[in-house]
Amino acid sequence: GEVQGKHRTGYHFQPLKNWINGGSCRGLHFPHSPLPFQLRIQFILRSYKSKLAGPMYYNGFYHLFYQYNPKGVVWGNIVWAHSISTDLINWTPLEHAIYPSKPLDINGCWSGSATILPAGNGPAILYTGIDAENRQVQNVAFPKNLSDPYLREWDKPDYNPVIVPDAGINASAFRDPTTAWTTADGTWNVLVGGRRKHRGVAFLYRSPDFANWTKAARPLHSAPRTGMWECPDFFPVALGEKKGMDTSATGDGLKHVLKVSLDKTRYEYYTVGRYYPRRGRYVPEKTSADDHTGLRFDYGNFYASKTFFDPAKGRRVLWGWSNESDSKTSDVPKGWAGIQTIPRVVWLDESGEQLVQWPVEELEKLRGEKVEAHNVELKKGEHHEADVEATFEVPALDKAEQFDPSWRDPQVLCSQKGADVSGGVGPFGLWVLASADREERTAVFFRVFKKDDGKLVVLMSHDVDVTNSPTVVNMFEQVDTSVVESFGAGGKTCITSHVYPLQAVGDGAHLYAFNNGEATVNVLQLEMWSMKKPKMN
Ligand code: FRU
Repeated sequence: GEVQGKHRTGYHFQPLKNWINGGSCRGLHFPHSPLPFQLRIQFILRSYKSKLAGPMYYNGFYHLFYQYNPKGVVWGNIVWAHSISTDLINWTPLEHAIYPSKPLDINGCWSGSATILPAGNGPAILYTGIDAENRQVQNVAFPKNLSDPYLREWDKPDYNPVIVPDAGINASAFRDPTTAWTTADGTWNVLVGGRRKHRGVAFLYRSPDFANWTKAARPLHSAPRTGMWECPDFFPVALGEKKGMDTSATGDGLKHVLKVSLDKTRYEYYTVGRYYPRRGRYVPEKTSADDHTGLRFDYGNFYASKTFFDPAKGRRVLWGWSNESDSKTSDVPKGWAGIQTIPRVVWLDESGEQLVQWPVEELEKLRGEKVEAHNVELKKGEHHEADVEATFEVPALDKAEQFDPSWRDPQVLCSQKGADVSGGVGPFGLWVLASADREERTAVFFRVFKKDDGKLVVLMSHDVDVTNSPTVVNMFEQVDTSVVESFGAGGKTCITSHVYPLQAVGDGAHLYAFNNGEATVNVLQLEMWSMKKPKMN
């Protein structure tokens, strides 16, 4: 069918069509913000002196395989679609890599992961096939021709499936194999996500040869009342270093991260912990909530994510799938649904307790024209249209509201303290994708609270209104035609939202800086780049 372009994204990964899986002007005035654009915002909280506290690469190509419905804009008929890139930004589509062709995957080729085999043996893909009896089984596939630089065609050897649900396993909750890793004697290890009654489980399988797999006596990890663990991801992170590590890396200078996608809530959670290869166990650290109320890669629309190690740049890259948040009925005329977020580099922060994420540096290649402004004071109720790297300064924090220790869930707090609910310090920030009359707008904003011990708590929120309606907080903001991705606190808190403006599209999209708090906020600097269009499938 026809693909409607109004909200099609400018530089986020998306196929040409169909379904994919995986928040009174004064001074400055810019007529409108060029779309899509990229901006960086930095908030500096002054006056407190002490520290205040907050896929696959192979032979020169990045390969993105994604869950795709070739026949429609809703989920179904799932194949592994395939695009390649040399820079993670410009993408060329290839033929589908894996599609139903045998009884072992005749009802669908679901999620899985790629593993680069050592000694020049190329990549292998492990994926979940929905077999003729509708069981979830794990299959392996290899490139038909390793000398094809694009790895267009994939073979499924006859010894598939390699892992089948045994008598103790629920065959409809047994999927999404991880990237495999090796342990001391070269044994392969892989996780398969699952569920036992209400308990989420990461089943562990081992193999000497990538073909014969045996279930370990105990799962790598599990947690009560969390439901099905979809798309598990398990990887090492370096201590005190930004560098990424190969999935098989071991040693002292590292910890491990286990991420699961909870089918129940459609949220993803990760813990940081220790991996004991001999015991085949992973133990989250005490500081890492294991009841799945803890850390999330992204507090917005972000699910079924995967990381991969990029040896070319020595980094670990995270891809997330961002589903539409509009209705299925509007996806049909639109002709597409779902995007991949901008790939993000992930690493362990200095505390060793939390991950930090930042968009890949290649994104900067798309930066075009730059617009700047300096030293604008924002008093309560004021807003300025601005195109924006932005540095906001809060000169005084005495008006910061008291933080109530019973506030546990930032999302609940965000829903109560919206962008229009006046406070002490904040809400202040930006209205993006706003119409000229500001009836349609998405606020990306901050509100600063003070705790009893004098420490500051900064709340970062997205507030989407389209139908009417630490010491330094660094924030990196990307605004595409219908997607807003925010990176707060230097990349420790991230939010992705889909927005479907009616007027704030194309030349009608504006950007404003606003302040609805008592305390005056200074916009020290605003810098913004228009974004060039990448080659997108
Ligand atoms: C995640 C997921 C996976 C499954 C795939 C099917 O959203 O449900 O568990 O393998 O999508 O497309």
